[in-house]
Amino acid sequence: MKFLGRIALFVFISVAANITVAQNAVPVYLDESKSIEERVANALSLMTLEEKVDMCHAQSKFSSAGVPRLGIPEVWMSDGPHGVRAEIDWDSWGYADWTNDSCTAFPALTCLAATFNPEMSAIYGKAIGEEARYRKKEVLLGPGVNIYRTPLNGRNFEYMGEDPFLASKMVVPYIQGVQQNGVAACVKHFALNNQEMWRDQVDVELSDRALYEIYLPAFKAAVIDGQAWSIMGAYNKIRGQHCCHNELLLQKILKGDWKFDGVVITDWGGTHDTKEAAMNGLDIEMGTGTDGLTTNTKSAYDFYYLADPYLKALKNGELSSTDLDDKASRILKMIFRTSMNTKRPFGSFASPEHAAVSRKVAEEGIVLLKNKNNILPLKAGSYKKILVVGENGTRKMTLGGGSSDLKVKQEVSPLQGLKAVLGNEVEIEYTMGYASGPSAYGQEIPSWLNADSLRTVAIEKAKGADLVLYFGGLNKNHAQDCEGGDRKNMNLPFGQDLLINGLIAVNKNMVVTLMSGNAVTMPWINEVPALLQAWYLGSESGNAIASVIVGNTNPSGKLPFTFPVKLTDNGANAFDELSYPGVNFKQVYKEDILVGYRWYDTKKIEPLFPFGFGLSYTTFEIGKANTDKSKYTKTDVVKITVPVTNKGLKAGSEVVQVYISDNEASVTRPEKELKGFAKVQLSAGETKQVVIELPVSEWAFYSETKKGWELEPGKFTVQVGNSSRAISQKVTVTVE
Ligand code: BGC
Repeated sequence: MKFLGRIALFVFISVAANITVAQNAVPVYLDESKSIEERVANALSLMTLEEKVDMCHAQSKFSSAGVPRLGIPEVWMSDGPHGVRAEIDWDSWGYADWTNDSCTAFPALTCLAATFNPEMSAIYGKAIGEEARYRKKEVLLGPGVNIYRTPLNGRNFEYMGEDPFLASKMVVPYIQGVQQNGVAACVKHFALNNQEMWRDQVDVELSDRALYEIYLPAFKAAVIDGQAWSIMGAYNKIRGQHCCHNELLLQKILKGDWKFDGVVITDWGGTHDTKEAAMNGLDIEMGTGTDGLTTNTKSAYDFYYLADPYLKALKNGELSSTDLDDKASRILKMIFRTSMNTKRPFGSFASPEHAAVSRKVAEEGIVLLKNKNNILPLKAGSYKKILVVGENGTRKMTLGGGSSDLKVKQEVSPLQGLKAVLGNEVEIEYTMGYASGPSAYGQEIPSWLNADSLRTVAIEKAKGADLVLYFGGLNKNHAQDCEGGDRKNMNLPFGQDLLINGLIAVNKNMVVTLMSGNAVTMPWINEVPALLQAWYLGSESGNAIASVIVGNTNPSGKLPFTFPVKLTDNGANAFDELSYPGVNFKQVYKEDILVGYRWYDTKKIEPLFPFGFGLSYTTFEIGKANTDKSKYTKTDVVKITVPVTNKGLKAGSEVVQVYISDNEASVTRPEKELKGFAKVQLSAGETKQVVIELPVSEWAFYSETKKGWELEPGKFTVQVGNSSRAISQKVTVTVE
C-alpha cells in the first residue's frame, strides 16, 4: 500500500509538472526561433473570424487592430515621407498636441533624387526609420515614387522625378534603411496617382507599354529589390477600377508577378467596395469616411467596407475565407517583422546625427542652374550690404503641403543660415517682397498684405544693396506644392515675376534661389546671373543653402525632372484636356512612353533646363568612354569605363550619366533613356576611372503584342554625359 501510495504520488507530481510545463511553453507564434511562416500559421490557427476581420481595417485614424486576446500588438502608422508626422487624434485629422513629437525634417524626395546618390537614400532611410522606430510606429507612410508627368501635379515634391530608372535606384536604399529599424516602409501611391486634381475619381487609361516602362519600374524595384513590407494603393482608378482594389495592379502584377509578400494598405479613403476590396488584394482599409466615423462613436470603424459588411459576407458565404486568411497572414507577417521582432533596435529621435543627415542630403541635392561670371560662390569681402528678398527667405516650408506636413524641432531659414555663415562681416537686410498668405488644406487664403507696397519697398532697398539674394518659388499652400489640388499654371505665383523683373532692373548683382518641387516658368532668366534650385530642404534648409552660396559646399545636384520653357512643351500638357486633367474624370495618357526628357528629346523641344543638368563651382571633363566588348548577348552586362577629371581648382562631385538608344527598332523608342549613373568625388586636378555596369536586359521594351519584355538584337548607342543634353561620349555596341 505504502509503495502504491508512493507511485500514485509520483504520478500525480509528474502530471502536475507536465501541466505546468505546458502552461509555460511559449506558443509557436511567440517563438522567435521559429520561422515567420510557422509563427503566422500558428497565430492564424488560434484566431477567430472576427479577430481576422478586425485586423483588416482601421481602428483609429492611423492605427489598425492587433489581436488583444493573443497579445499581438496594434499596427501604428505615420506619414511620411520626409519626417515622422506629429501625433494625430484618434478619430479626427486634428493634431493631438503632444509635446514630445517634434521631428527632424529631411529634404523632400525631389531633393533626394537630385543627389543622384543612392548612398544619400541609404542614410536618409536609416535616419527617418530610426525616428519612426523611436516614435513606436510600425509603418512609415513613404517613400513616394509616382512619376513626374506634369509640372502641375501638386505632389511632385513628394516623389523622385520623371525617370523610372533614377527613381528605382534611389528608392531601394531608402526602404532598406527604414526597414533595418524594424519599421515597414509603405511605398506610395500604387499607381498612376500623377495628379491631385480629381484624384479620387480620375480614371486613367494608358498603354501597357507606358504602364510597364514608365509608371511601374520604381514600384517594382521597391518590391523586388527593396523588399518593401507594405505598399499604399492610389486614390485614382485605372482602366475603370479603383487602384486600392484593382485586380490588375494588386492581384496580377503586385502579388502575382512580383510575388509581394507584404501588406497592401489603402490610401486614406481609397476603398469603395467590399467585394472588390476582399477579392482584389487589399489588406488594410484606412481612412474611409463613413457615417459611423463622423458620429465619432466607439464602433465607427465597424462601418468600414472591410469591417462589418465583410464579416457578414464571410458568414453568409458570399465571400471566401481564403482571401481573409491571406490578408490576416500578411498583416501578421508585418507585425512579426516589426513590433514583434524583439531584436529590432530602439531608434532615436530629433538627434544632432539626424540633423547632420538632413543637412548632408540637402547640400548634395541643391542644383546650381546658372552661374554667369561665377557670381557664386560669394567672394569674401566683395559685398558689404546684402539685401535678402522674398517670403521664402523666412517662411517655414515644413508646414503645409497636406499629409507631409511636419512639426519640427527646428527649421533654419535661409536668412538665419546666411546670418550664421556671414556673421558680422556684412550687413544683411531682409524684406519680404511678396506675400502668399497662410497655408490651409484645400483652400487658398490670400495674404492681407499689400503686394504693391511689398514690391516697391523691396525694389527701393535693392537699389542701395551690393547684392540681392532672392528667395522665392512655390510653397506648401493649396494650389502650390500641396496635396489635394494641382497648380493652376506653371508660373511663379504671388506676383514674383513682376518683383524679380523690378529687382533685376535696379540691381544686376542678383542670385535667385527657388524653393519648389516643381518646374516653373522663368521669363526673367536671361537677366538673372545666378539661379539655385533648392527644393524643400527640411530642418537644415537655411544652413545648406548658405553653405552653397558662400562656397563651403560645392553644389553637385542634378535635376530629376525637366524644366520646360512653357507648360505646353511638356508631353502630358501638349495634348487636349483628355490628356490632362481629363474629361468627365476620364483621362488618356496621350504622350504614352514619352514622359519627361523622353518627350523633349524625341520631339526635339529645347527645355529651359534639361533632366540631369546641374552646374558646379569647378569644371569636369569626361574622357574617352570604353566598353569592355563591342558585342553582347541579351544576358550580358556591359561594363563601360570612363575617365573623369576635375579641371578646376575646387574639389567637387560630378554625376556621370549613361543613356542608351536603340538604333533600329520595330516600335517607337525614346531618343535616349537613362540606364546607369554614378556620382564621383574629385579633388582639384584629380582623375578617376568610373566604371558603370549596364545589364543588357534592362534595354528591353515592353511589347504590346507579346505582352512581355522584348529585346531586339541590333545596334545600340551608349551615350555618356553629365546631363541628358550634354552627351560627350558615344559608343556603339551590338546586341546579338
Ligand atoms: C495621402 C497619403 C497619406 C495619407 C495619410 C492621404 O491623403 O494621400 O499619402 O499617407 O493621407 O495621411
